[in-house]
Amino acid sequence: MKVLVIGGAGYIGSHVVKELMAQGHEITVFDNLSSGLLQNLFKENDFIAGDILYKDSLDKAFARGFDAFIHLAAFKAAGESMINPEKYSVNNITGTLNILNSAVEHNCKYMVFSSSAAVFGEPKYLPIDEDHPKDPENYYGYTKLSIEEFMKWYDKIKGLKFAALRYFNAAGYDPDGVLYGLEQNPANLLPIIMEVACGMRDKMKIFGKDYDTPDGTCIRDYVHVTDLARAHVKALDYIVKNNESLTVNLGSEKGTSVTEMVEAARRITGQPIPADYVERRPGDPACLYATSKKAAEKLNWKAEYSDIDTLIDSTYKAYQRYNKEHK
Ligand code: UFG
Repeated sequence: MKVLVIGGAGYIGSHVVKELMAQGHEITVFDNLSSGLLQNLFKENDFIAGDILYKDSLDKAFARGFDAFIHLAAFKAAGESMINPEKYSVNNITGTLNILNSAVEHNCKYMVFSSSAAVFGEPKYLPIDEDHPKDPENYYGYTKLSIEEFMKWYDKIKGLKFAALRYFNAAGYDPDGVLYGLEQNPANLLPIIMEVACGMRDKMKIFGKDYDTPDGTCIRDYVHVTDLARAHVKALDYIVKNNESLTVNLGSEKGTSVTEMVEAARRITGQPIPADYVERRPGDPACLYATSKKAAEKLNWKAEYSDIDTLIDSTYKAYQRYNKEHK
């Protein structure tokens, strides 16, 4: 299929592109490179430097004719979205409405969307399934939830078929080592651990040790970016084959605490990784993990690279390679 990947130069987007290429799809990447990297582009693919806030540039892109598109272009810092919601309204919501309008105008009616576990908010029960109540804790999560609603209306009115993929905690790097472009100013746990392991920062903070969990630190469901990428390919096949929209959770179904992650990183990297326990970070639920039963049933998907050792090892290799090249 001819597929437009919006946000395809980013961390998750580039891994999605790699998996789509492996299945023989013909790819064009659309990205404004605000957080995406030229380094993440493959020379085999077309690239359009464009911004989703300019509908004209989307119109020009969609006019090339695509069977489907994948939308991963969004800001994703939950904390920032509570300080600067305007940025998230404009980019995530207005930008997505531009995409939806341009796509349906150009008769491109299959869409895979990067949604998030942030749509659920504080868990009411575990593991979190697709029907769990949606009550986002932050504005970022609300933008994802509202986009899920927009897509349902465009399905009803315009026949757009979508797959909304609710990622839990995306982590890891391409196990083949082809993709190793690092995210700039990361705020997520594993990149921060890696910055300490590689001497890019002196030490890290562990936010809270008095949670109601076995070791007192927060538990999350870390899912490898290559597993997520493969789910995009399967979801695209599913919606095209069945002409039916789909919303699924994507997690490894395993909970890992912050302390477990830091200790595993010390073991795998052989680095001391100094860490201080500090106050809780506002808005962090104690424990979050998914059931991916629906993804298994509908997409024949399961996480294959999401064990902690592969997550850490693949990320460490990306950081080492980056640091070697940027000495
Ligand atoms: N953490 C630390 N120290 C750090 C960074 C993080 O202790 O320096 C802790 C956090 O407090 C949390 C855990 O590590 O307990 C994971 O934090 P992240 O910031 O990596 O991830 P979040 O769980 O907060 O959120 C991530 C994505 C969201 C997504 C969510 C879905 O950033 O976009 O997963 O589960 F919605």
